Amino acid sequence: MSIRLDALIAERIRNAGPLTAAAFMELALYHPTLGYYTRASKRTGRAGDFYTSVDVGPQFGALLAAQLDEMRRQLASPSFDLVEVAAGNGQLSRDILDASAARYPELYESLRVNLVETSPAARQVHADTLAPHKAKLEASTAALPNTVTGVIFANELLDALPTHAVTMTETGLAEIYVALDGDRLVECLGPPSTPALASYLERLDLELAPGWRGEICLSAMEWVRTAANRLNRGFMLLVDYGHTADRLYEGHHVRGTLTTFTSHLVDAASQSGEGPRGPAWLSEPGDRDITAHVDITSVCDSARKAGLDLLGVVDQSRFLLGLGAVDEPAMDHDPRAQLRHRLALKTLLVPGGLGSTHQVMFFGRGVGTPTLAGLSLSPSVQGKPSP
Ligand SMILES: C[S@@+](CC[C@H](N)C(=O)[O-])C[C@H]1O[C@@H](n2cnc3c(N)ncnc32)[C@H](O)[C@@H]1O
Repeated sequence: MSIRLDALIAERIRNAGPLTAAAFMELALYHPTLGYYTRASKRTGRAGDFYTSVDVGPQFGALLAAQLDEMRRQLASPSFDLVEVAAGNGQLSRDILDASAARYPELYESLRVNLVETSPAARQVHADTLAPHKAKLEASTAALPNTVTGVIFANELLDALPTHAVTMTETGLAEIYVALDGDRLVECLGPPSTPALASYLERLDLELAPGWRGEICLSAMEWVRTAANRLNRGFMLLVDYGHTADRLYEGHHVRGTLTTFTSHLVDAASQSGEGPRGPAWLSEPGDRDITAHVDITSVCDSARKAGLDLLGVVDQSRFLLGLGAVDEPAMDHDPRAQLRHRLALKTLLVPGGLGSTHQVMFFGRGVGTPTLAGLSLSPSVQGKPSP
């Protein structure tokens, strides 16, 4: 008999009381058998629910390979670990390896690839995805390696981590929980489940008005601390959509940023609020993606506290242009392939789309403040980044 995730969640709430948004997201996305990401090797792209830069084509990986090659030269280590976290089916590392083999032979020679992905279904296809580069695949695991000399990279990891949701009331900070109204999942308010939520906001020194609602992703900060501690020498590059705290926790996002995606349709809590089906992020758990924007200020603070140097933050458009996106050659000379190539680059760069929504955060350990092509067009001076 198959169990439905919504029934299982309802049962938990009946037995143990309302769930925090983080506990709900953990079940909806990562339940060991029924979670949205657990069950499928690929959730993105045309047949999935949303597009990432990886789905646009091999161009993102090819441009990243240029950045990795520059980092490799600066690190001057005989081998160079590429630890790709949130690797999905491994396609991005495949694109990086294809481009390295063709254009950066020394990088290719030194690369040791670790794919880190919590979804067992996704891990299962890693060996096939990287088949032409079999010898380069060091490991495919759910956990970060203990020590990394090279780069830890993640595209759209932090936005997919379970987040708490809070709101400011006349009597102070309250947490948004998931409760039951009959059989229906609904939101309810209660006292914060942990003092860490209030401390988080105090550290940011932000005034929140009554009625304001937002997300606090403690698990993202925990992940950043862990990853930073595993970096022995080298770089950490995190790409995600988000804002600095002063922009995230202000008028534009007064309803928060919790959003669900299904079949490329967006259903944002901030847009739809409480509809006849209840809040969108509570519907069809296990069948929809749930995500929230990333607090870039706090990510940078967490990495710095763990001993990393913040090298810079740049939007994806400037990042890729700095790496030579304008001159990026197509792999194929067929005119239709050339056209697809140009359209793909445009999609990666376009302001208002991936080019400006996505920010690239650069951190280093034991590398000083090197000149990096990906940061060369950043408006913030290297070594003195803005967040
Ligand atoms: C939004 S998808 C991004 C996939 C891919 N990076 C891309 O850009 O197409 C997020 C992925 O992160 C994985 N994930 C979530 N938490 C993780 C963790 N702690 N470590 C590794 N992977 C994780 C999910 O299973 C999912 O495959």
